[in-house]
Amino acid sequence: MERMSGGCCKGSHYHEAVVTRVDRRGDVANLYLDISLETVPGQFVMVWLPGLEEVPMAPSDDDPLRITVKAVGKTTRRLVGMEPGDRLYIRGPYGRGFTRRSGRPLLVGGGVGAAPLILLAKKLAEMGVEGVYVEGQPSGDVELFIREALDLGWEAILYTEDGSRGYKGLPTQYLEENLGGFTSIYACGPEPMNRAVLRLCGDRIPCEVSMERIVKCGVGVCGSCVVEGTGLLVCLDGPVFRADELLERGYPGG
Ligand code: FES
Repeated sequence: MERMSGGCCKGSHYHEAVVTRVDRRGDVANLYLDISLETVPGQFVMVWLPGLEEVPMAPSDDDPLRITVKAVGKTTRRLVGMEPGDRLYIRGPYGRGFTRRSGRPLLVGGGVGAAPLILLAKKLAEMGVEGVYVEGQPSGDVELFIREALDLGWEAILYTEDGSRGYKGLPTQYLEENLGGFTSIYACGPEPMNRAVLRLCGDRIPCEVSMERIVKCGVGVCGSCVVEGTGLLVCLDGPVFRADELLERGYPGG
């Protein structure tokens, strides 16, 4: 298996990858690729299909490389529809990932935002850290990584908006009720979820949040990924930010 490393793959150097397995759940697919990647959980790669736009993706596994895609546009619909043997092109990894800490972490993922968190859980488990993984999804048919988190020896809790599986509600409910039981918080999800996490954590506990913006160049040139009001670029300064740096720069928690 070809191994990509952060050092050798910076810039516009693409690696061809072949899809070896597809695991589809509703409008989301886990694509397993025939390459591995040296990456920090939370960093992203740019995924390109010839003739279509590039899209940023934070891998959900590194060896073999796995990307988790939700069909929201032309490129992502094509990716979700891929079959084993299909090819795509990867450059990266880019940006800043999560800081791995010992102690008792809580990981809160919403939708496909759960992707970098299951890789983080894997890396923390390799350090001997045991934490809690909470995943929120619109419904139970797109539950993604609960089984994997349990297999790591972690507690894993599912929230669904329609109550079809797990607890009914949003994953931030768990954070709200259990914040005091953890030494660090990691989150990645839709904007309202990230804001709620920032409001709940403030500067009370080490907290890191992965932000999503439109990433075009991926290398700090085009300015498309600025976090409004903060001057921070998702592709260079993030996508993972500390809660205190976002709040100090004026990002609204709430
Ligand atoms: S994507 Fe171009 S500056 Fe961040």
